[in-house]
This record gives sequence, structure tokens and C-alpha cells, in this order.
Amino acid sequence: MEQVDARRQKDRRLARICPTMDIENSSSARQGASVFAIVVVFRRLFGCVVFASNLIWITATLSASKSTPNVQPAIGPKSVAAFERACSLMPGGVNSPARAFGAVGGSPLFIERAAGPHLFDLDGRRYLDYIGSWGPMILGHAHPEVVEAIVAATRRGTSYGAPTEAESGLAEQIIEAVPSIERVRLVNSGTEATMSAIRVARGVTGREKIIKFAGNYHGHVDSLLVAAGSSAATLGVPDSPGVTDGATRDTILLSYNDVQGLTETFQQHGQNIAALILEPVVGNMGCVIPTQDFLAAARSLTETAGTVLIFDEVMTGFRVAYGGAQQRFGITPDMTTLGKIVGGGMPLGAYGGRASIMDQVLPAGKIFQAGTLSGNPVAVAAGSTTLRLLKQNPPYEQLERLGNRLAEGLGKAASDAGIEHQVQQVGSMMTLFFNKHPINNWDDADRSDRAKFAQYFWGMIERGIYMPCSQFEALFFSQTHTEAMIDQTIIAASEVLAAIE
Ligand SMILES: Cc1ncc(COP(=O)(O)O)c(C=O)c1O
Repeated sequence: MEQVDARRQKDRRLARICPTMDIENSSSARQGASVFAIVVVFRRLFGCVVFASNLIWITATLSASKSTPNVQPAIGPKSVAAFERACSLMPGGVNSPARAFGAVGGSPLFIERAAGPHLFDLDGRRYLDYIGSWGPMILGHAHPEVVEAIVAATRRGTSYGAPTEAESGLAEQIIEAVPSIERVRLVNSGTEATMSAIRVARGVTGREKIIKFAGNYHGHVDSLLVAAGSSAATLGVPDSPGVTDGATRDTILLSYNDVQGLTETFQQHGQNIAALILEPVVGNMGCVIPTQDFLAAARSLTETAGTVLIFDEVMTGFRVAYGGAQQRFGITPDMTTLGKIVGGGMPLGAYGGRASIMDQVLPAGKIFQAGTLSGNPVAVAAGSTTLRLLKQNPPYEQLERLGNRLAEGLGKAASDAGIEHQVQQVGSMMTLFFNKHPINNWDDADRSDRAKFAQYFWGMIERGIYMPCSQFEALFFSQTHTEAMIDQTIIAASEVLAAIE
């Protein structure tokens, strides 16, 4: 009890520093998760000093398979102290909001290093990582060949502001992999990629309106920061202070997987719509899968209307298949945006499409887009090495098999615990929704039980398993996750779900 009070006081102190923190949720979620905290076991520090980076990586990859999950306090004192410090220096203590654990209430882990499938926090604890930096780390953390490529590139200089052959190498790899891309432009993030693609679509069509779907996230581009909506076509309402009505006036918001809504919108506005942008598997309202009819309708309606169809594959590119969701579902858009895996864990994004569209970008054409660090040699080295390794030894069958195993195991664990749930999965992207109905769009997702999710999240953290800290994020795993680790995760989930109130 004293411990709980001390923690509450600490939470209150943090909440004063970090006003975004939700103390009630934090305490209750932790309490719920603590019901089954039988033994507090500090994880052993990752032991012996091994100098060969390959050996460290392989050891880290294999070592988790030996142990079943231990139960430990949710967040260690060093992470708590680091967050307190960070909160006085950065808004909410973080450089990107999802990291702050706001959705589950509490103080985030501070990471010291990562190897293979594991993260190690400041308190020396090891976590099996199901975030993978929110998608990029498909090869596992600190893959020796990627690290080597980064170090070698760094030694040759970190930025030139002039073209390099390595950029053409990465461009070739992207063009070869992604069916819709004939020409590509490298940028620094997924946000830059989607922002630029929208500008290009407007530039080539001479039209202003765009369509996006509620619950799809395309980065923090003003015109795309519109998330709330219904199945009827509505004019967008800005989601964030600072985004003006003007910026979103031309954004039409629709419901994902709603073929009728889409068809009616094209009947009404077709000739004025520059672009339709969508996540071809949604990761940003949890994992939501498109129906084949929906993707086919998006393709045919845009084709007829002369609208540019943009697949935002920042998350799905090189993840759900080497050629992304467009390869997996056999539907080719006009343009594609990429990020995350394409940069191999470094800041790099890309957008591309048919040559006739891309050749209208400056300096080949007149549509302006530029970047001091675009095509940065270090980021290109990481991205190019990552794609080469994915192509040489495709992990996709293994990821699919492990994904099916995890989905089945989580589903059974939830059923055994009597919890209404949905497991939605495509390969190595997945969400366990605390929801009795299948999730096809944002309205469905929004009806999920966030409080139960928070209990699940903290219970998993206590067992050394780092899941996404929101019901509305997909988990990702890497080629370094083994069957034993998946089983360990299922055992942990069974314990946690059985104790959820
Ligand atoms: C589908 C999608 N598009 C765009 C973005 C924005 O990418 P970035 O965070 O690199 O700007 C994200 C980020 O999560 C994303 O998931």
C-alpha cells in the first residue's frame, strides 16, 4: 500500500511536470497489472562482454528463447528520473507524442541500447520489443551489416549537399521492389513524403480537393491532420490547434472500407479531386485490413476521375511484402510514399510513382520540392543495406508464420480469459483489440475498451514485453523474433489477460 501511495505521489509530481499524463489511468492500470505481481525479479544485466558485434547480436537474439517471462515492476527508477528531467526540457518529455505512454497513463521506459529483438532500458532491464521503432526495425536492432554500412558511410563524411551514386543505388532498389514506382525522390521522413506527394498530385491534376480516411495517419501534414469523421463524406475539421480551416478545407474525410461512401463522393466531386491517399493496411488505428473490394473501388474510381491514387506505404512498404501492400494485394496505385524500413532505422523517406507524374517535380518539372539533407549518405547506406538484406534473404514467410502463431495464441489467451476481443493481423503487423466486433474503420476502433488495453499493456511490460502503448497502434516484430519468443509472449499474455478486470 505504501508503495502504491509513493507511486501515486510520484505520478502526481510527474503530472505536474508533464500535464499530458493521466494519473488516474496510470495508477489504476498499474494496480490492475500488479494484481498478479507475485515475485519481483530484476533481470540480470546482459552479461558477459563480447566484443564481436555479430556475436553480441546473435547472443541477444537467442538468449530470450531460454527464459519464460519474469514479473518485474513496471518502470524502473532510472527511467522515472530520466522522464522527470526530460519533462523540464522538452514538451511532455519526448520528441514524438506516442512515446510518452499518454494513452496508457504513466512514465515511459528510457532506452539505453537495443540488439536484435530486444531493448535494454536505463535500469538494465531487457524487453522483447514489439514496436521496432514503430516499424523500421524489420531486420532486428543494430543488425551488424547495417551498423557497418552506417559506420563506413560516416567515415566518408556525413553530408555533401551534392549527388552520390549511392542514391541511385537505393533508387534502383526501390523502383525494382515497388510496382507503382518508376521514378523516386528521397526525402527525410514519412511526413515529408506524404506532404510532397499531395503537392505533386495537386500540381499534376490542377485540382485542389483530396480524400483521406478517418483513422489513417499520414504524418503531421496540415491538410492531412484530419482524423475524426463518419461514413458520410464531410468537409474536414482540423484536428490540432494551429491547423487552420483553410488548410483542411479541401480535405474530404471518409470512412475506411466504405465503398458506397467512396463511390458517392466520386459521383459528386470526382472531377475536383486531385488525390486519394490511404494506408493500404492501416496501422494507425490499430491494424485494420482493407477489403479487396475497397482497394479495387479506390483504384477504379480514381482512374475514371483522373485522380491520383496514393498508397501511403510508410508503414507497409517492405513490411507486409517486399513490394509492400500493393504487391500483396495486387493493386497498383499512381504514387507511393515510403518511410521507416526504407531508411533502415535512419531518417529517410521517399515518394515516387509513374515517370509521367514524377517528371513534373523540380528540376525536371515545375513542382517545387527540396531538402538540404535529402539523400543523406548515412541514411542511404542504412536503407540500401536493409533492402539488400531483405531481398537476399526474404524473411516474409517466417514473419507470416510467426504472425499467424502469435495471432492465434493471443486470440486463444483472450478467449480463455473470457475477454471480448479481435486479433487483426497482416504478416508481422497486428493488434489485439479489446472489442467484440471486427474493426473495419475508425468508428469500430473507437469503441474498443481502452482501460482493458492499458491493463494488458502494463501487465506485459511487467513481464518484459514491450507492446505499443496505445490500443490504436499496430505491433511489429522482426526477423530476429523466434518461435520461442512468440510462445513466451503468448504465455505472458495468458497470465495478463486472465487477471484483467
Ligand atoms: C502510414 C504513415 N504515414 C506517414 C507517417 C509519418 O512518418 P514520419 O513519422 O516518418 O514522419 C507515418 C508515421 O507513423 C505512418 O505510419
